[in-house]
Amino acid sequence: MSRLHVVSGKGGTGKTTVAAALALALATEGRRTLLVEVEGRQGIAQLFETEALPYEERKIAVGPASEGASRSDSVRGGGGRRAGEVHALAIDAERALLDYLQMFYKLGSAGRALKKLGAIDFATTIAPGLRDVLLTGKACEAVRRKDKQGRFVYDAVVMDAPPTGRITRFLNVNDEVAGLAKIGPIHNQAQAVMRVLKSPETAVHLVTLLEEMPVQETADGVAELRAAGLPVGGIVINMTRPALLDNGDLDLLAARGARAGVAKALSQAGLGGARRGGLADRLIDPLLEQAREHAERVELERAEYAELTAIGLPTYELELLPEGVDLAGLYQLARDLRKQGPI
Ligand SMILES: Nc1ncnc2c1ncn2[C@@H]1O[C@H](COP(=O)(O)OP(=O)(O)OP(=O)(O)O)[C@@H](O)[C@H]1O
Ligand SMILES: [Mg+2]
Repeated sequence: MSRLHVVSGKGGTGKTTVAAALALALATEGRRTLLVEVEGRQGIAQLFETEALPYEERKIAVGPASEGASRSDSVRGGGGRRAGEVHALAIDAERALLDYLQMFYKLGSAGRALKKLGAIDFATTIAPGLRDVLLTGKACEAVRRKDKQGRFVYDAVVMDAPPTGRITRFLNVNDEVAGLAKIGPIHNQAQAVMRVLKSPETAVHLVTLLEEMPVQETADGVAELRAAGLPVGGIVINMTRPALLDNGDLDLLAARGARAGVAKALSQAGLGGARRGGLADRLIDPLLEQAREHAERVELERAEYAELTAIGLPTYELELLPEGVDLAGLYQLARDLRKQGPI
């Protein structure tokens, strides 16, 4: 079972939403998860309707009730069906660098001096590879962290990661910093991070929509990740819409008698006969037009779906929530993920 879940995907497809839903989905039965964001956009705080996250791990939600347990049961921890906890952290590259310097060089106030001198600017903007190793390093540290009894502090860490176009480079920090530091603590840190990222402990999931561009990006992203030796987990198909017409209806629509069929159905529904100029008559063409648009969309989506399954990874589906994603919606997405088995 993976303990570090990295969630990537094309921009706007729902990475932040899916990462949060996954962190919730994994937080059952007393399990504790950590949801981290690395791009400094405070997307998690927005989603959980809390104030901006400081650079500090804090509990932001209780996991969903496990199946069979009532809500109050699970919150109270009754019957062994304890709810878990979601903690969150917005990782900040600058703070991570200071932590890191502190750890290796015991620079207390010197770290603050460095900051004034612009060393942080150097490290985070001139050497972006170093910035990434600090961000992934922090996540890997949380994955490996143990308490005094030797148990993992977090059962799982879920990262709301950069988009598909940058994810391989972001995770492949080893290559990135190789030119920067061939020996010494930065090199060792990069090696340690890479060991976690390339191990079966890690799974990179890609979020997509059933549309041409995100599906293409998903296929390319999987190929890139695989080529870099990074473990790919599953594909989350987000914002799916129900098919309103079944196969029979779609066949009818394509057949010659579609118009007559709709006219008959309308008159059966009490909308009057297909008298020329009557209500039913005026409804037929717009209805057929809508149905054809829908059929076209269903056909396109089927083709995209086939492309995705051809990649040969486990797929998960999350419906488009018509009201958008509020906190209740997030819990619903978490339940939907859980129902589809371990991710
Ligand atoms: N299943 C869903 N149903 C309805 N709305 C959704 C769903 N998933 C995501 N959304 C909405 O789509 C928008 C984009 O989602 P989100 O911010 O999670 O995407 P993202 O990939 O993280 O975007 P970015 O690339 O900007 O970081 C948000 O408004 C979110 O509420
Ligand atoms: Mg996002």
